[in-house]
Amino acid sequence: MREQLEKIKREALTAIQDAKDILNLEELENKLLGRKSGELTNLMKSLKDLGADMKKEMGQLANEVKTAIDGALSEKKQEIKKAEWVGALEKERADATQPTLPVKERGHLHPNTIVQNDLENLFTSMGFMVLDGPELESDYYNFEAVNIPKTHPARDMQDTFYIKNHGVNSDAPWVMRTHTSTMQVRAMQKYGAPLRMIVPGKCFRNEATDVRHEHTFYQMEGVVIDKGINFGHLKGVLEIVAKHLYGPETKVRLRPKYYPFVEPGVNGEVSCYLCKGAGCRLCKESGWLEIFGAGMIHPNVLKEGELDPKVYQGFAFGFGLIRLVMLKYGIEDARLQMSGDLRFLKQF
Ligand code: DAH
Repeated sequence: MREQLEKIKREALTAIQDAKDILNLEELENKLLGRKSGELTNLMKSLKDLGADMKKEMGQLANEVKTAIDGALSEKKQEIKKAEWVGALEKERADATQPTLPVKERGHLHPNTIVQNDLENLFTSMGFMVLDGPELESDYYNFEAVNIPKTHPARDMQDTFYIKNHGVNSDAPWVMRTHTSTMQVRAMQKYGAPLRMIVPGKCFRNEATDVRHEHTFYQMEGVVIDKGINFGHLKGVLEIVAKHLYGPETKVRLRPKYYPFVEPGVNGEVSCYLCKGAGCRLCKESGWLEIFGAGMIHPNVLKEGELDPKVYQGFAFGFGLIRLVMLKYGIEDARLQMSGDLRFLKQF
């Protein structure tokens, strides 16, 4: 019996020492001390068969063995837990004293985004919401809804990229939107009146590109609809925008121009910020810079938007953001903005 006890003790202590993890230890604990068939438990159970003296002596020894094993088990458990804890900490270690790595190149906003953000802030401060719209647009919203029927010659003003077989219940082709005016009727249908919104976004045209034209470009459309809106409101808002962009002295000039979705329609110019109207290279000696189209929303367009033109009136305007960027930064070639040329982009 003594030998058996000592053997158990010896073997148990080495096995505990060699245990790799908590699971291992639990297995060992069960094997030695398990209530049903632990090795030591079994031996202790058989003590009752011994004679009184022997029983006392062996009982004592067995208890010592059990205490030793218990002690070794809990010590090893602590050790393993601590190792796991340190390992976890080690993994998350961050050296707070390490100097920051030198920043080689910092990203920055595209000039177009800078101008767009600036105008979004101005318009939202006047209670306009900022809307997004699809770049691949139905023929309906791009043309028909804004009073440009199928055979209308105004379609020639905006030759575009048609997409065949787009798969939407009609044979009409879809287009890469030629302007952000597409959102006029979409917004009326969705929000009704009164309405105050701007739509910045990418547009596409089948252009022979040159320094003033690019096939992919950005516009910002604006719409205000309410009862009793008149041309004075239109001019007032455009003056605020012009002064915001080019300073408090800036004047706005509106001259009649045909756009199918407005009546009357105007071509909007601002006094040249460089020569203050005297005439220079920037304004081609005219003293004026052409920056937007605008007008009072055509009754047909209001009707498409399910609004009654007898009750509601509105104005709309459209800025070419690319043009605003060119003027702001003195860029002479419109094509640079979409070129992805880092030598150009790094200047902003
Ligand atoms: N959609 C026009 C274009 O792309 C710009 C424009 C002109 C928008 C007059 C308007 C407007 O809302 O009233 O050329």
